[in-house]
Amino acid sequence: MLPSFWIAPALVTVALSAPTFPSPPGITPVDLSIVSDYFNLLSQKIQRRRGAGPPICDLDNAVMPSSNLDAPSAGLTLKHVAIGRGTQNYTCANSSAQATPLAVGAVANLYNATCLAASQPSVLTLLPNLTLQWNLQGSDQSTLYPTSLLLSGQHYFTNLSTPFFNLDISPLQLGEAPCSKVQSAPAPAGSALGQGGVGDGSVAWLKLQTHDATGSLEEVYRLNTAGGNPPETCEGKPAAFEVQYAAEYWFWES
Ligand SMILES: *[C@@H]1O[C@H](CO)[C@@H](O)[C@H](O)[C@H]1NC(C)=O
Ligand SMILES: *[C@@H]1O[C@H](CO)[C@@H](O)[C@H](O)[C@H]1NC(C)=O
Ligand SMILES: *[C@@H]1O[C@H](CO)[C@@H](O)[C@H](O)[C@H]1NC(C)=O
Ligand SMILES: *[C@@H]1O[C@H](CO)[C@@H](O)[C@H](O)[C@H]1NC(C)=O
Ligand SMILES: *[C@@H]1O[C@H](CO)[C@@H](O)[C@H](O)[C@H]1NC(C)=O
Repeated sequence: MLPSFWIAPALVTVALSAPTFPSPPGITPVDLSIVSDYFNLLSQKIQRRRGAGPPICDLDNAVMPSSNLDAPSAGLTLKHVAIGRGTQNYTCANSSAQATPLAVGAVANLYNATCLAASQPSVLTLLPNLTLQWNLQGSDQSTLYPTSLLLSGQHYFTNLSTPFFNLDISPLQLGEAPCSKVQSAPAPAGSALGQGGVGDGSVAWLKLQTHDATGSLEEVYRLNTAGGNPPETCEGKPAAFEVQYAAEYWFWES
């Protein structure tokens, strides 16, 4: 039996038959080139794997995207890799160009990409910008559209400075982690601008430290971000608004 990230049969058919993609609710698909890249890569991988055994999910093989952030503290080991998909929330004092959007947190679902990180890093890399291309509120969120990755947790803020990760959901129950920011690095040049390749860019890459976490969770990285940045000013913006984003989250344990 192949791990769950491997391809749902429906998607294989799609990959091999020059698909038309469902129009994402809430956005006009200006440019879905990332979607073709993804399905082309998948179909190559599938061809290459025919007859081979299931992919090996050895976490020792998983390597974080390189950045200027400090490495995990000595002695920590990788516990989980998730794709986060949700929104960055902002508020505006008024809708003039003098006001600047204020970040008031994020809300995202987390999907288990651990095995993919270990066995298919090139597929993993495409996922944040891939899944960014659809607004998923109100749809079935048990898997990460359009992949078959399974829900492994939720991410939200408990106050303005406390990102929180609840990985304590069935069947894995990996723990819960209130965090604070340790370091931030701007998303690299060439990162996704937003949905349809249009927008204000990708949120920073981060290193976070947990506080009184369960499951031995110690450090969390937000990497390979796609979207989430607000416009530079509040001009024309409502008092509260959301910007769609996705990212890789890497969880390290003691
Ligand atoms: C992200 O996907 C969009 C939509 O397909 C595409 O226009 C854009 O070039 C992609 N960006 C990156 C950095 O891959
Ligand atoms: C889900 O996460 C767990 C814990 O990180 C990992 O052992 C398992 O291989 C993951 N499954 C998949 C399909 O990635
Ligand atoms: C909007 O808010 C900004 C920042 O608080 C302030 O400087 C500016 O005077 C306000 N403009 C209006 C029209 O209220
Ligand atoms: C936010 O929550 C953390 C953790 O509970 C707490 O230490 C911190 O003082 C809170 N900050 C504010 C501004 O309420
Ligand atoms: C932030 O986003 C979440 C999820 O989309 C939403 O439920 C919440 O109301 C938003 N908060 C603000 C302050 O806009």
